[in-house]
Amino acid sequence: MCSVVGYIGMKESRAIVLEGLSRLEYRGYDSAGFACIDPDDNRLMYAKSEGKLSQLVSRLQDDPIDGFAGIGHTRWSTHGASSEQNAHPHFDCHKQISVVHNGIIENHHELKRQLEAAGHSFHSQTDSETIAHLFEAALTGARALPDALKQLVGRLQGAYAFVSLLQDYPDTIIAVRKRSPLCIGIGEGQMFVASDMLAFAGKAQNVLFMPDESFALVKKDGVELYSFDGTSLPFTVQEIDVTWDLYEKQGHEHYMLKEIYEQKTAIHDTVDFLHSVKDRVWDDLGMTAQQIRDLDSINLIGCGTSWHAGYIAKFFFETICMLPTQLHLGSEFRYLPFFPSQKSMFVAISQSGETADTLEAVRMVHDCKMPTVALTNISSSTMVREADGFLLTQAGREIAVASTKAFSTQLTALYWLAHRIAHEKKMISLEQLERSQEDLLVAAEVLENAIENYKLLIIKELAPRYARYRKMLFLGRHSSYPFAMEAALKLKEIAYIFATAYPAGELKHGPLALIDTDIPVIIFSHQDSLIYQKLLVNAQEVKARGGHIIAFAFDGQSELIELADVVFEIPRVKPLLGPLAMTGLMQFFFYAIAKELGRAIDKPRNLAKSVTVE
Ligand code: AGP
Repeated sequence: MCSVVGYIGMKESRAIVLEGLSRLEYRGYDSAGFACIDPDDNRLMYAKSEGKLSQLVSRLQDDPIDGFAGIGHTRWSTHGASSEQNAHPHFDCHKQISVVHNGIIENHHELKRQLEAAGHSFHSQTDSETIAHLFEAALTGARALPDALKQLVGRLQGAYAFVSLLQDYPDTIIAVRKRSPLCIGIGEGQMFVASDMLAFAGKAQNVLFMPDESFALVKKDGVELYSFDGTSLPFTVQEIDVTWDLYEKQGHEHYMLKEIYEQKTAIHDTVDFLHSVKDRVWDDLGMTAQQIRDLDSINLIGCGTSWHAGYIAKFFFETICMLPTQLHLGSEFRYLPFFPSQKSMFVAISQSGETADTLEAVRMVHDCKMPTVALTNISSSTMVREADGFLLTQAGREIAVASTKAFSTQLTALYWLAHRIAHEKKMISLEQLERSQEDLLVAAEVLENAIENYKLLIIKELAPRYARYRKMLFLGRHSSYPFAMEAALKLKEIAYIFATAYPAGELKHGPLALIDTDIPVIIFSHQDSLIYQKLLVNAQEVKARGGHIIAFAFDGQSELIELADVVFEIPRVKPLLGPLAMTGLMQFFFYAIAKELGRAIDKPRNLAKSVTVE
């Protein structure tokens, strides 16, 4: 959600921390701050500002504080408005302890009351400030830093990762992790700390993913790692094999556009990868072939776009390997009854592998001894580490907040997995499994060509025309209904245009009352002839009431094509892959509308890429 970055070493920290923050700005951008230790007098100095990181950068140009140890933060507000006062770092009463924090301190009200009663005074509305004051209290009387930290974490409830710089310990950065991600980049004579290793990719050689419920004392030449009970922990590091250059915009105006165009390659890479692991996939999933053969159902969970991918995949599993499939929403899961079963598997779909709601569900299901699998794009994510097994998409890092290639590769992996299970259960042959891979590649081709075919029309005519509307209604049936939901999410998220999706058959049960000339109706067709015929009836209902239709139709669906005011005609693919084939064009259309409206496409207001708070 928020991002925290820290550096300690022989170089001045400001530029390094700011670059790290800018790489992670997708995680939050309401306000930003930086603190460092002045090398001349060891004083703790800081600067913060409301708004995007660029505002902090300008402020630091006027007031160029710097030092060999520094920490920084970009914020996605949870407690307290987006303001300079609430921007991190936060401090203790004497401004000698600085803290940048990602996550939520659930018991902060109670702690604040106690701390105020003990004479501490607070300057922000954040839960994060509590950490600094509590740290101040813990340090009084503690024999050493680890003792104080042990005391501190013993009083904090919630999921959090924070980094702290103390005036009295100028050669140490403190990193603390409970459930929220935090990693340490290990270089020669320099160390980095960040919410995501992308912050220091290319600068540090190795990374230590901090274990859950651990804290670390990070000095330029070494790291001491402790568990929350104060026991010293041994650790191993992993080599960092990514560089930042891979994640530049490479000439595109926005990351979202770059990522829309990368989809064909990402689908190819995912198919190639899945093909290469086909014989060992059950090991990766943490299951045996026998467990797969015994499966009698599938459980899927996700949030936002990943939930939509799961919804479409429900049709894959129920059709291809005929397994009843239950779909769960990450944010609702823990409040609803759940019936664990050893004959099922619980697949958590998450691009980042860090989404708190989904992760908590994985933890709960894991505790019930039911097999959990993380379907994610990030091999180093917490979800991969905590689930029993994993299946990786090969989308490459997705930077834009709006999910594009993550969605299409999730569909790819889930379609493949349904076939692989069907093959294991001897429901389809090896040839059929391989044909499913070909079908995915065909859909990827169609996805890309559809953008090319309509690009100019969209840019020149359609985006300017539809950017004028304030609301839209989206319709689909069967698997095109969850696709309509995903489309509505994309439009809301990047263009700030209200959009709602309905199963087309529900129109007559209420939403038909909305139809007038001010609300374009976007219909996502289906290739199944029965479903198509039903959709056609719904389209006629809209038309008969003077409605305005934009149709995503498949080749040869002449009735729908004639009825619609605007048509995107898409070549036929395997019917279950219809949503995948329409994906790129849908995303490009809404991207162009958002651009027309001058929206902050890569970092839409109020949002963040990785939602690590519940
Ligand atoms: C959609 O464009 C969003 N980025 C959002 O809905 C996202 O899919 C959701 O927050 C879940 O994220 P995850 O896939 O990283 O778990």
